[in-house]
Order: sequence, then structure tokens, then C-alpha cells
Amino acid sequence: MNDQEEYWENFWEDQNEPLHARSTDEYYAEFSVELLWLLQGRESGRVLELGCGSGEFYDRLGFSSAKSYLGTDLSASMLEAFEARHPGVQLQKASAHQFSDDQQFDLIYSNGVMQNLSVDMLRSHFELAAGMLSPDGLIVDASIPWAVHKYPYRAGNLKPPYRFSIRPAASWALTAMKLRRDQLGYWYTPKDLDDSASEFGLVGEFRGSISYPYRFHALFHKAPAS
Ligand SMILES: C[S@@+](CC[C@H](N)C(=O)[O-])C[C@H]1O[C@@H](n2cnc3c(N)ncnc32)[C@H](O)[C@@H]1O
Repeated sequence: MNDQEEYWENFWEDQNEPLHARSTDEYYAEFSVELLWLLQGRESGRVLELGCGSGEFYDRLGFSSAKSYLGTDLSASMLEAFEARHPGVQLQKASAHQFSDDQQFDLIYSNGVMQNLSVDMLRSHFELAAGMLSPDGLIVDASIPWAVHKYPYRAGNLKPPYRFSIRPAASWALTAMKLRRDQLGYWYTPKDLDDSASEFGLVGEFRGSISYPYRFHALFHKAPAS
């Protein structure tokens, strides 16, 4: 186990809540609409969820009616909370950058997890995910902290009233932001993910988050055979 994995395993080991911005039904209903927009119907196929947590979105994203569903997480206590809420669901303790399986998946999905992966762990995640993705499958890594918005977010400028202009960070500042992990974890740019995933034949598409202006969503599919 490397330092990063150990740090986040310690952080999550006694948690049984995903620590989202809010935990109301209204919040989950609203955010589910945004997440479903990313999944493009793949939620009804063979689903692998990385960092599934306590299963807050399991029903809301339709995973309970998927052809098959496997949830994995680093934290045994989060998996116990999931199992208590949805008995009999297939769950496995595993880190997102180490899980691999002989099965093929139509959707490999995570939400709020990539921020706990270092650059090396991200690379390993994409290598393994590319190997498990069905030919028409989709990888969705949702809600990644967006490095260009780190300082405006910390300064409280990404919610109304918008009193300050938000300027893109200079490239040297961006590098410093990405290297320094904070309490949210790692902040990345779409290019960081694209560079890492393209090495394994994955083509990326990126969307800003509607619910969290300081986060983006990353989607990948296999490059067509040339
Ligand atoms: C913010 S919670 C999100 C949970 C769930 N995805 C959701 O949307 O409700 C992050 C989850 O990722 C898990 N996690 C963190 N690092 C991980 C890793 N390297 N591999 C697998 N799971 C990880 C944590 O244990 C926690 O359950």
C-alpha cells in the first residue's frame, strides 16, 4: 500500500457517510439528475462502481435494475453501510486503482473518488478500467475537483453573490495547486486525466458540473479501431 492509499484508507475507514455537501432527499434527487445525464443509459447494463460508498445513489441512478452491478470501495465501514441499506448487493473491498476482473462492464463509474487518487494511481485506474470496458462501454469519473477553480473556491467566490472576477490561473500557479493535496484531495485539470487515459486508448470528453462549479466530470470511451 502506498502513502496516498494509506492516508485515504485511514480517512475513510470509520466513515459510514459519503460526506456530500448535503444529505437531504432534495439534494440527492437534484444531483441524481446531473449524474444520470452523464451515464447515457449505460446504467441499465453491466455496472462497476468504484468508491461506491454507502450506496446513496444506488437506487437513484437505477443501478438496482442494472443487468449486473458490482460496487467496490476502499472502506469496509462504507461497504457495511451499503450492505445494511441494500442487503445482497454484490460488493467488494478494493482500491479503485487496483481492482481488476475478467468480466467486461458497460459502465465503469465513480463519483467523488478520483480526488483521492494521486497521478500514479489515476494512471493505474485507467489502465485497468480500459481492460474491463466493453467495446461500447463508458467510463464516467464524476465530480473531480477542478484545479483552475481551487483558489476562487477556497476564497468563497464560487457561490452568490459573485463579488470578484474569476480569472483562470497562471500556468505556474496551476502546477502548484495540482501538486498540493488539501482536505478535498487532489485537484486536477481535464488535460491531466486526458493525458493519463489516452495512453490506454481511451478518448475523453469533459463537462463542468452544474451542482458544483469547482468540479468537472470526465467521460471516456474506447478509441475506434483504425
Ligand atoms: C465522497 S465518497 C462518495 C461515495 C459515492 N461514490 C457517492 O457518490 O455517494 C468517496 C468514497 O470513495 C471511497 N474511496 C476513497 N479512495 C478510494 C480508493 N482509492 N479506492 C476505492 N474507494 C475509494 C471512500 O471510501 C468513499 O466511500
